[in-house]
Amino acid sequence: MKIKPIKANHESFINQLMTEFDHMLKVLSHQTKNSKDTPGIDLPQMKLPEQKVKHTAGLMRINHTGEVCAQALYNGQAMMAKDEKTKNHLLKAAEEEHNHLNWCQSRLDELGAEPSITNPFWYLHSFAIGSFAAFFGDAVSYGFVIETERQVESHLQEHIDDIGEDDPKSLKILQQMQTDEIRHGNDAKNAGGVELPEPVKWVMTGMSKIMKFVSYRI
Ligand SMILES: [Fe+2]
Ligand SMILES: [Fe+2]
Repeated sequence: MKIKPIKANHESFINQLMTEFDHMLKVLSHQTKNSKDTPGIDLPQMKLPEQKVKHTAGLMRINHTGEVCAQALYNGQAMMAKDEKTKNHLLKAAEEEHNHLNWCQSRLDELGAEPSITNPFWYLHSFAIGSFAAFFGDAVSYGFVIETERQVESHLQEHIDDIGEDDPKSLKILQQMQTDEIRHGNDAKNAGGVELPEPVKWVMTGMSKIMKFVSYRI
């Protein structure tokens, strides 16, 4: 077996961190790329009451922050993945999550709203959590994906019910995201993800409640 010199290991770790830092900057400075794949792109813009626009913008800001977190989680997990297959699985999911980020950003633009100013904090937080989860092995890492996607899917349902038919453009985006998140969860289950202990799920729920409370407002 060929043993890598320690210096080479350090260099590749530093290179990896630089790549991840670059990725973080790209996510946080993401500009909308209007794509014909955006769900509901052809639907007409409804004239919504001011209060409704403000509320929907708050909900879409939460979802945008959720997608920033998804980028950070998946990339943190991929960086620490134990085998190449898991790494590729996570990076492919991250690519799809990138579409979600773009859709939420484009809807925020249309509603005349800004993303949350707390996104840098949530990115760093999620990257650390994702790396930490992956540290315990690929089965736990997939288990973390299962639980995350389950929680996201359920909060998306709340937003779908809340927005209803009043705003078909936002609704279409959330419905497609929900379909994708369910698939991500199922894929992680099929890849061998394990059920996380209940206290871990409670902590995850608690953190997502804080994120939602803050991102709705600022
Ligand atoms: Fe997503
Ligand atoms: Fe997802």
